[in-house]
Amino acid sequence: VNITIIDRDGVTHKIEAPTDMAMNLMEVVRSYELAPEGTIGVCGGMAMCASCQCYVLSDTELPEMQDDEEAMLSEAFYVKDNSRLGCQIPITPELEGLEVELAPES
Ligand code: FES
Repeated sequence: VNITIIDRDGVTHKIEAPTDMAMNLMEVVRSYELAPEGTIGVCGGMAMCASCQCYVLSDTELPEMQDDEEAMLSEAFYVKDNSRLGCQIPITPELEGLEVELAPES
């Protein structure tokens, strides 16, 4: 699925993320090395660190936020209305055209 990710330096990366590997958006950012090791996915995708926070720029329909994601975002820094935790967004064909920007490191 085609996804656009703007990294923390403002560089745009257009990538094709695999939908058959049970990955989430945070893992894609890590596997494409779009953020330095140790600055994203710190909690391992448990919705407990917010290091994978990103801003959703496209109007792509995403899975609804669960309580743990909502709770983490209520405590995190740099949160905006369009903030989501990348680790809570599974890579599915529905994400075609998704555009996100990584939130600053906190
Ligand atoms: Fe920690 Fe997503 S990796 S909240």
